[in-house]
Amino acid sequence: MPSMSPDEIVALTKKHSFFSWSAQDSVNPIPMAKGKGIYFWDAHGKRYLDLNSQLMCVNIGHGNERVIEAIKKQADELVYAGPSMASEVRATIGKELAEVMPGDLKKFFFTLGGAEANENAIKMARHFTGRHKIIARYRSYHGATSGAMTLTGDHRRWANEPGIPGVIHTFDPYKYRSQLYQEGDSDQVFARRCLDQIEEVLMYEGPHTVAAIFIETVTGTNGIIIPPDGYMQGLREICNKHGILLICDEVMAGLGRTGEWFAVDHWKVVPDMITMAKGLTSAYMPLGAVAINEKISDFYKDKVFYGGLTYSAHPMSLAAGVATLRVMKDDDIVGNSKRVGKIMAGLLDDLKAEHPSVGDVRSIGLFGCVELVKNRKTKEPMAPYVGASAEMNKLGAYLKENGIYAFTWRNMLHTNPPLIITEKELREAFEVINKALEITDKAVGG
Ligand SMILES: Cc1ncc(COP(=O)(O)O)c(C=O)c1O
Repeated sequence: MPSMSPDEIVALTKKHSFFSWSAQDSVNPIPMAKGKGIYFWDAHGKRYLDLNSQLMCVNIGHGNERVIEAIKKQADELVYAGPSMASEVRATIGKELAEVMPGDLKKFFFTLGGAEANENAIKMARHFTGRHKIIARYRSYHGATSGAMTLTGDHRRWANEPGIPGVIHTFDPYKYRSQLYQEGDSDQVFARRCLDQIEEVLMYEGPHTVAAIFIETVTGTNGIIIPPDGYMQGLREICNKHGILLICDEVMAGLGRTGEWFAVDHWKVVPDMITMAKGLTSAYMPLGAVAINEKISDFYKDKVFYGGLTYSAHPMSLAAGVATLRVMKDDDIVGNSKRVGKIMAGLLDDLKAEHPSVGDVRSIGLFGCVELVKNRKTKEPMAPYVGASAEMNKLGAYLKENGIYAFTWRNMLHTNPPLIITEKELREAFEVINKALEITDKAVGG
């Protein structure tokens, strides 16, 4: 247990460190003390079931001894090697990661996180194609650095504008709220309409000016938006037709979260680049990567890539990455995500059947969310697009009080537990959610 009191920890942390995405006086951090498996404890000794894997990143659960040991061993052997060095751990991670990548995505540029991976993917796409525009989508988050923030479609972009030039936003395949979806439409029909809309955008932008279509394969923070079957395949065809690169940001959706190693595997689509981070080390150390396909890696055989980072391929991060990948393989973490994910889909459906405030539920693997509404017919959200609501605040507070750490944002409650969760543990968490939704049910009108 820490030597400071819980109050001291919070007060001193707040005094000197700056919190992200917040007015500083409004933050109320949990003094986190330790984590093990799907749980973490605060400095008071209170236990929380981590239903959001912290920031959708602690995929193999907290405190895994094999990863911790690997980090310690690496520290004893070689703590740092500059980015121009080769090292055993760097040799090993490439091989371990290449084994689980789709298609010909076998070469990796290592960064420290997701935003940096996306920045470098933008740079490579522009250099490779000689074009400058990037098509991204409104319901997306790609990171908080300048380029990644410009790609980001959600409202966090507004305060950071103007960003980099040449980014155009289009709409997501968001069945529940899309103007292009009508009750009863098949996936194929809905996918076709979404793709036609993208083709239309391309016609007006000039496809020959577009370097890349840059998407979250499955949208994360902005509400677990799963593309209808045919969408990813169609996007791949559009990109092929126009010589545009398809870049999939799987910082959140990758590494087992959706029940496959990468979300694109659900549709057997191979993008030109995949960016990743979070689950790559289960967040035990900071690490991101851009995976590039053969034609891009061939391009760089005799051309200089003008980009670099002091901590690119940092041995400590890579050691955590190698150990995490081995844990994932040895323990069939991806299989567990798929199996328990199916149970979670059923539990989400049960919530929808029972609670009038549940407008929609969506999940793929252990990547899920409940979309809350005040009125199922009008789909009026339980909180506005920007800003909170009393009901959503109360919902979050109830869950926290009852030992469930969950992510509530806009009108969504996310269910993204560590991928090691068992059916029994998941059912326990959903019992608390079931009770908690009585709060939002009270706000249902009409
Ligand atoms: C889809 C996606 N891309 C990029 C990022 C940015 O990653 P990082 O915070 O590691 O820079 C995130 C972070 O949540 C993300 O969810």
